[in-house]
Amino acid sequence: MPKSLSGYEKIYLMPILYLNLIMPEVSRTFYSPKDVDVEISEIKDGIYRISGMVDMHGITFNQFLIDDEKPMLIHTGPVGMYKKIEEKVKEVIPLQKLAYVSFLHFESDEWGGMAFLDSADAKLVCSDLSSKLNLAGWHGMSADHVSFWDNETLNTGKRRFRFIMTPHVHHWDSMMIYEETTKSLFPSDLFIQPGNNKPVISEDLSESMIALYRAVGIFASEEPVRRTTRRLIDLSPNMVYPMHGSCIDSSAFPKYTDAIIKNNFAYTGMLLGQKLEDIS
Ligand SMILES: [Fe+2]
Ligand SMILES: [Fe+2]
Repeated sequence: MPKSLSGYEKIYLMPILYLNLIMPEVSRTFYSPKDVDVEISEIKDGIYRISGMVDMHGITFNQFLIDDEKPMLIHTGPVGMYKKIEEKVKEVIPLQKLAYVSFLHFESDEWGGMAFLDSADAKLVCSDLSSKLNLAGWHGMSADHVSFWDNETLNTGKRRFRFIMTPHVHHWDSMMIYEETTKSLFPSDLFIQPGNNKPVISEDLSESMIALYRAVGIFASEEPVRRTTRRLIDLSPNMVYPMHGSCIDSSAFPKYTDAIIKNNFAYTGMLLGQKLEDIS
């Protein structure tokens, strides 16, 4: 404790000085996963899953490459995984051919690999809210991106992508993508499952999905999630491509939608598996 402090300063600064003694600054850079084995597999219809298991979080991080006249990558992965994901993209297409890089909400595992935008013709695709709320005011962000409102579509050759705005399903700016010709749904962080299972499952892992949502606290309330889920049921997708976990075959999809409709899973004080104590 410095001797020169006045009585007033001692009262107000002592707790801060004390906290500094017991809580030294800690580097968090190790949170960006780097040493992750990344695999690629074609799921179907020229849609590739590029996936790495991140042990720290107990989930896979999946990117999806849709090969077409104008190929699209959905999610980029976090920045630490960029090189390994880029290698896998290059196994399917030359990087210069990549036309669209889509992220479905503003979060580092969705779009930490922004280096994909250095490719000659790659355009960033996002929701209209991601554009207005985040990109438009972010330091160093190029204004050159394409954003979509609900139900707008984009043709990439043989494929036609429909954009579905899903506000407050995890984030305010969230959207999902539905590829109409193959009936493929890209729901981002909805229908995710923990663990490293097969690229495609028809098993019911909905119980562990719900447990994961409760522990991680990614949904503020159930209502917007259920409203979106009912809309997704009406699309009756052939294959569901979540960002974490396995792709879900259409035969198993009702198990996951039922679990969302029938269970409570919204935030109750748990964040990334840790209890946030109420401060009174
Ligand atoms: Fe997310
Ligand atoms: Fe995610």
